[in-house]
Amino acid sequence: MNPFGVGLSHGKIIWFGEHAVVYHHPAIALPLNQLRVHIKMDPSSKTELISPFFNGPLTAGQGLDGWIALLEALREKLPLNHVRITLETTLPVGAGFGASAAIASALVMAAYDLCDHPLDQKTHFDLIQISEQIFHTNPSGIDAFLTMTTHPQRYRKDQSPQALSIDLNASLVIAHSNIKGSTKDAVEHIASAMQDKKIMKHMADLGHLTVEALDAIQAKNIPALGRLMNAAHGLLQTVGVSHPVVDGLVQEALNQHALGAKISGGGLGGIMIALYDDEAAADRFITHLQTQGFTTAFKRSLRHEN
Ligand code: MEV
Repeated sequence: MNPFGVGLSHGKIIWFGEHAVVYHHPAIALPLNQLRVHIKMDPSSKTELISPFFNGPLTAGQGLDGWIALLEALREKLPLNHVRITLETTLPVGAGFGASAAIASALVMAAYDLCDHPLDQKTHFDLIQISEQIFHTNPSGIDAFLTMTTHPQRYRKDQSPQALSIDLNASLVIAHSNIKGSTKDAVEHIASAMQDKKIMKHMADLGHLTVEALDAIQAKNIPALGRLMNAAHGLLQTVGVSHPVVDGLVQEALNQHALGAKISGGGLGGIMIALYDDEAAADRFITHLQTQGFTTAFKRSLRHEN
């Protein structure tokens, strides 16, 4: 046993293929190393959480059942008793940045670190999925996997993820709409609509857009990626997981020289991402967003080293 355990993790964005990935279609996701989660786990007389959104015994919090289940699973694997979990994070919750998976990932790392026990990737992934199943009903695993890698990924449910080499002279502007989305509600909405053959086809179409995007990434065809993002946004709107505020941000991005823009993640609010090959225009759009009150607005480079 160590005196305390530490876990570190980060957020992600889905560039292409959200929702479709739940139905075994491919998706592209990028880790967001600038949005981080840090957990310190100390032995304690009760199991409690100290965090930006809740302080107190874990069982007294609302909507924390995923992490309670995760701790139970950890106790079956490790000699873990009561712990104080101190959580610091720059990741907004309910935005589409994969906060629930990132927190679960850091919790698992902290527990294994506290117990001085080696942690393999499969165990790490399976444990994150225990809380994700409670928070998201039917997670594809993309959020869980992205917390364990610092490289962009081509992800397909139940297949080995592939690290993607992306080297584009472009950036994504990422902006939170300030509308809290619910991935659980969005995933359940699509699940109940899947009897409709049209929705099933839209999921397949989203998967095809991902395949085209993979080709465009290889060919470094940035305008094509913008068009594919617009097409993906249209499909996500049609299946009912966008939000008027996000639609407004997409339109604003297109008015301000973005090559394409879309909702990203679970939807029903959350984040908008917009593609720029002109850094100055991207910076101007970020400033514009911030003056409009969209304070979580920043750039992610698509250069290789990122
Ligand atoms: C959430 O970040 C992505 C979804 O596709 C759900 C999932 O894949 O588990 C909406």
